[in-house]
Amino acid sequence: MTEEDGRAPAAVVFDALGLDHERAFADSAERRASPDWLLERLAPGIRVLDVGSGTGRPTAHTLAGAGDRVLGLDVSPVMVDPAARQVPGAEFRLADIRDTPLAEASFDAVCAYFSLLQMSRAEQAAVVAKPARVVRIGGLVAPATVPLDVADAECVFMGQPTRVTGFGAEAFTGLVTGAGLTVLAEECSRYTPDLPGAMPEPRLFLHARRPDQPPEGR
Ligand SMILES: C[S@@+](CC[C@H](N)C(=O)[O-])C[C@H]1O[C@@H](n2cnc3c(N)ncnc32)[C@H](O)[C@@H]1O
Repeated sequence: MTEEDGRAPAAVVFDALGLDHERAFADSAERRASPDWLLERLAPGIRVLDVGSGTGRPTAHTLAGAGDRVLGLDVSPVMVDPAARQVPGAEFRLADIRDTPLAEASFDAVCAYFSLLQMSRAEQAAVVAKPARVVRIGGLVAPATVPLDVADAECVFMGQPTRVTGFGAEAFTGLVTGAGLTVLAEECSRYTPDLPGAMPEPRLFLHARRPDQPPEGR
């Protein structure tokens, strides 16, 4: 996938969106279901990494509001700035998850909601494998994607021309299990953003755990 002027393609798109993205994909029970799933299973005060944390709402807002220590990473400064203002109880860093070093077993949970789609397939596989290492044994990992089998497809997202790569649901789940995580739950739904003429789009949320013993062969 090409980098534009040395910048990540996702940064170019999301720098043009900022809070417009949050308004279009508004907070809702449906959006909070996955952070709530993490909260129900882990004690308060856990360390959570939010990959592609956007404007901080609803994910970091929900988790930090419950007392968790949240680190949000995002490649777009226009997303990071409002996140830091809107969720002062969390820490946000301008960083590209593809080349951010993170210590082994340094988080209790990792979530990554819709933040992989501007990466190549190989990059998505590498990024999905990262939580399997940076979450502690027994920790939880919650990735979500738009489960579409497309590679470097041209599209216009909220008025911004971009290229999107995705996996079908089975292949995306395979990335997660291939990284050594055990999938505990899978939620498929359709969501219609609050945009003129928007159509319902598929969504896949996975909830996984780093097992006590690595699968054989690892
Ligand atoms: C579709 S938005 C989703 C934001 C938030 N996770 C949510 O669910 O509302 C994707 C976010 O991932 C960020 N992102 C994309 N690629 C990234 C990368 N390589 N490293 C860090 N953040 C990235 C984008 O800048 C954007 O803020």
